[in-house]
Amino acid sequence: MNPTILAFETSCDETAVAVVRGREILSSVLSSQVDLHARFGGVVPEVAARAHTESIRSLTHKALVEARVHPDDLDAVAATEGPGLVGALLVGHEFGKATAWARRLPFVGVDHMEGHLFSPILEHPDYAPPAVVVLVSGGHSQLVHVEEWGRYRVLGATIDDAAGEAFDKLARAMGLGYPGGPAIDEASEGGDPSTIRFPRALPDRRHDFSFSGLKTSVTTFIDKAKASGDLPPLADVAASVQEAIVDVIVDKTINAARDTGARIVGGGGGVLANRRLRARLAEACDAEGLRLVLPSPALCTDNAAMIGAAAVHWLEKGAITAWESTVDAGRRLG
Ligand code: KG4
Ligand code: ZN
Repeated sequence: MNPTILAFETSCDETAVAVVRGREILSSVLSSQVDLHARFGGVVPEVAARAHTESIRSLTHKALVEARVHPDDLDAVAATEGPGLVGALLVGHEFGKATAWARRLPFVGVDHMEGHLFSPILEHPDYAPPAVVVLVSGGHSQLVHVEEWGRYRVLGATIDDAAGEAFDKLARAMGLGYPGGPAIDEASEGGDPSTIRFPRALPDRRHDFSFSGLKTSVTTFIDKAKASGDLPPLADVAASVQEAIVDVIVDKTINAARDTGARIVGGGGGVLANRRLRARLAEACDAEGLRLVLPSPALCTDNAAMIGAAAVHWLEKGAITAWESTVDAGRRLG
């Protein structure tokens, strides 16, 4: 079955709409609110919800036109149910349900992290369980053992900040822009990652992360280096900070693959757009003989195609979401 699905993703600061047919992307469009939030240094929930409301109709039109799909040809509608910002989630979820209701189509509410978890399948049809999946985004960092689609065991997670949140906070500490991940990625270009050895947290916990301590080390280092007048070039500091985060993510992902015996490693979430992380994961998986399946960078960050891909699974199972269902801002995978 290759259902044609109209999918919405509005959990945070991207309004995203896509049309997928099975796991093929027919269109995937989005309107990023980054510029709206940049002056606040982070996402402002009320501003996000309002901006979703303003752009969702025209984006839906654009997605259908680009996909060359008439609303009559749709088989289902899907939308992110959570986790995320409640007001932001409600826009896509209610719009999705209303569209489905008006067209007498089934509606599928999708877990945002499950969307990231499915995202590699859009470009790698051989991605299948059993697999270990590293999910690293702005709000979450988790290692998940996918025993079969829909059956997830969360092996470990961050005990404080998410990886993307760490990038965002550290970029601010270094005087770089928002969002911090792309800023550090860019600033690291040509830098030497071995210039400063920042601490790698929780070495004894095989699948858990901690990133909050890094901010103190980096801030202390920068303050001291500035005071003594020997601050290394920005590229070297940024590359060293990035390496501290990347090292931990790579090590714990490999631990998870070894501990579960999974031979396929998948990934999702905005942090996987990071060039150094992609390269280091590829090296580590090669060395272990593991198959690594990562989405291309544009599908690592939030998009609606991944929500459509996850919805295909639930639709195949006949798991239709009830009309009276609503969003769940604190929803958890597993
Ligand atoms: O998955 P995502 O788009 O949204 C959430 O679900 O949170 O992830 C956004 C996060 C932000 O923290 C951003 O700084 C980070 O992904 N990010 C990156 C890169 N691009 C985006 N982090 C590191 N390197 C990048 N190139
Ligand atoms: Zn996300």
